[in-house]
Amino acid sequence: MSTLSKRVILITGANKGIGLETARQLGKEGHTIIVAARDEKKAQAAVTELSQEGVDARPLVLDVTSAASIAQAAKEIEQQFGKLDTLINNAGLALEGWGSKASTTPIDDWRKIYETNVFGLVAVTQALLPLVKKSEAGRIVNLSSILGSLALHADPKSPIYDFKAAAYDSSKSAVNQFTIHLVHELRGTPIKVNAAHPGWVKTDMGGQDAPMNVVDGAKTSVWLATLPADGPTGGFFHLQDQLPW
Ligand SMILES: NC(=O)c1ccc[n+]([C@@H]2O[C@H](COP(=O)([O-])OP(=O)(O)OC[C@H]3O[C@@H](n4cnc5c(N)ncnc54)[C@H](OP(=O)(O)O)[C@@H]3O)[C@@H](O)[C@H]2O)c1
Repeated sequence: MSTLSKRVILITGANKGIGLETARQLGKEGHTIIVAARDEKKAQAAVTELSQEGVDARPLVLDVTSAASIAQAAKEIEQQFGKLDTLINNAGLALEGWGSKASTTPIDDWRKIYETNVFGLVAVTQALLPLVKKSEAGRIVNLSSILGSLALHADPKSPIYDFKAAAYDSSKSAVNQFTIHLVHELRGTPIKVNAAHPGWVKTDMGGQDAPMNVVDGAKTSVWLATLPADGPTGGFFHLQDQLPW
């Protein structure tokens, strides 16, 4: 089997929502899925559900805001697999409602959101990159959002112009910038790094008014997780369409 058909894939925040559905779809393609969740019982519950559907799923406790948890997770993956083929940085947090303003969103909310969406994502990637480098075809998928697009937020004609949630949107812009910088650093290697906008998806975060179901919401991550050698790197995608940074 080629490295693209039987991969070891880690998904953060895989106990529910888009992460769990991404685990299901990639697992059904035959990959081994490390189901990472900050709560051990939630990780185990997701693994039980996926295993009953025939997925080779393994539980992993990983709180992306804890340096000790990240170090322990990296150690366990190294011992068990010796490499990581795909890292999907899916865990995310949104505290604010629509319309929460740049001028008044409490600094504590900015800190909490950045702690998970930015510092957590960066710390997990830094800790696991040595294992991704051991894969023949490493792939990293960073869950961003169309709300992280500076170009679209600045354009009064764009569909997201009035969907402003200052701290969350800015955290996803930071994820995009991290993606671009990592791609530059990894040029000349087989590793591909892309940012994903899953769509506005019915999950606990997206809410029930979201137009997209979770099956379609997982598709962008699934595609980027298993890109062939001639696939893109350094892009910002929704499904297979490129979004402006
Ligand atoms: N839904 C949308 O419309 C939408 C749109 C654009 C982008 N996104 C992005 O897509 C990703 C998944 O979103 P979702 O809609 O599936 O959200 P969700 O249903 O709220 O799930 C979020 C996941 O992240 C986990 N998480 C939060 N903080 C964590 C931490 N410190 N350590 C580890 N895991 C943590 C949660 O774990 P717990 O269960 O323990 O809380 C949960 O598993 C996020 O990055 C989000 O920003 C979503």
